[in-house]
Amino acid sequence: APQAKIGPSILNADLANLAAESQKLLDNGADYLHLDVMDGNFVPNLTFGHPMVKCLRNHIKNAYFETHMMVNSPEQWIEPMADAGVNLYTFHIEPVKDVCNVCRLVQESGMKVGLAIKPATKVEELARYMEVADVVLVMTVEPGFGGQSFMADMMPKVEWLRCNYPNIDIEVDGGVGPKTIECCAKSGANMIVSGTAVVGAPDQRQAITQMREVVQR
Ligand code: DX5
Ligand code: ZN
Repeated sequence: APQAKIGPSILNADLANLAAESQKLLDNGADYLHLDVMDGNFVPNLTFGHPMVKCLRNHIKNAYFETHMMVNSPEQWIEPMADAGVNLYTFHIEPVKDVCNVCRLVQESGMKVGLAIKPATKVEELARYMEVADVVLVMTVEPGFGGQSFMADMMPKVEWLRCNYPNIDIEVDGGVGPKTIECCAKSGANMIVSGTAVVGAPDQRQAITQMREVVQR
């Protein structure tokens, strides 16, 4: 089964000190960084784009960067994000007409590609793309904000994916932390995004280690 990886989301970190906050998470054992890119249209919030990611990459040379593209036209940002040094480009399938084409463009740019679905999107919508996707992301909150409550009723989607695609990387994102990691792990998720629960943890290393251990069990 795919390896357990903990990828803190920096959305609720001090974004004016993004490099230091990110380095601290990596020093505390984070396997990758989950960078939430929001366009103010696909979701009612606005964060940052490729200029910020490019600067972050100048400070943090080797870490694995995932951008979670909560945007209406993900194909527009593929080249800028690849140029900024992104490793995994995860976009929402809801606003995209030709998902396979966007996947191909992402992979041709040298990045891995992830497909994300909102809570209201049926998991079967992903079935036709499973040959091309490197990662699938099941949102466990309505995208747009950190610090929301975990939606346990999303777990059947994770179970369905793990049962049908035993070797794919399945990521969960939203309200995940030491208190909710158990059911994510049991359902079959192996890539764990956690924002508030890790960034705000009194002991980040302990929070990251504990969640990884639960997933690896
Ligand atoms: C929400 C973002 C998530 C969020 C996770 O739209 O995609 O990555 O920042 O943060 P928590 O773990 O606080 O829900
Ligand atoms: Zn996210």
